[in-house]
Amino acid sequence: MDLRNVYEERRSINFFDRSKEVSKETLKNIIDLAVLVPSAFNLQPWEIIEVRSKEAKEKLFNLSNKQPKVLEAPVTLVLVGQKNGYDKSNPVWEEMLNTFGGDKKVVEGAQAMASALYSNTDADKLKFAESNVGLLAASIMYAAKHYGVDSHPMSGIDFEGIRKEFNLDESKTVVMTIALGYFDETKELYPRRPRRGYEEIVREV
Ligand SMILES: Cc1cc2nc3c(=O)[nH]c(=O)nc-3n(C[C@H](O)[C@H](O)[C@H](O)COP(=O)(O)O)c2cc1C
Repeated sequence: MDLRNVYEERRSINFFDRSKEVSKETLKNIIDLAVLVPSAFNLQPWEIIEVRSKEAKEKLFNLSNKQPKVLEAPVTLVLVGQKNGYDKSNPVWEEMLNTFGGDKKVVEGAQAMASALYSNTDADKLKFAESNVGLLAASIMYAAKHYGVDSHPMSGIDFEGIRKEFNLDESKTVVMTIALGYFDETKELYPRRPRRGYEEIVREV
């Protein structure tokens, strides 16, 4: 699908067709395309929980203000940010070492800079995790549309409850969830609500 169409046709779908699965292969294609999104220092401080089983869906549903789409959609993703994703435990640093021909100084310099930028306060760590995962979230929804899959992002959820239910330690933060599936054609979506454009939101200085 042309990128412009992807943007114009993606909607938050409230009604999913319960009879249509999103195959593992399609989900893999979506995620592997979406991760081409940029992240700070290419650190990719994220992980995703794929909620598919009936039991896991029930748990997530109860922690999502009982939004019916969590039960209706074949799969819902929990997008998790790694607040410590800048630190040396991130395997991406090792990959960076290879990319830069084994030059340790380059990597150590970048590590020091990332630490100075993102590690000072809890708010800094959270901002680091959430800003990167927010981009991934958008990228997943557009990649899904490219593969003909509809989506619905949710932050009307119990973030802490989900973190605990899915055994994520305190260095992790649940950023949002995204239900994925196919629109139930028997239902009707309200028309897309207007967006504030350039004239309203941009200030030239
Ligand atoms: C971060 C985020 C959280 C959202 N949370 C919810 C939610 O919990 N429940 C819901 O019904 N819609 C939720 N939405 C959907 C928005 O209401 C929707 O994206 C917006 O009205 C624009 O509609 P569109 O996506 O169809 O263009 C969320 C959207 C975003 C981006």
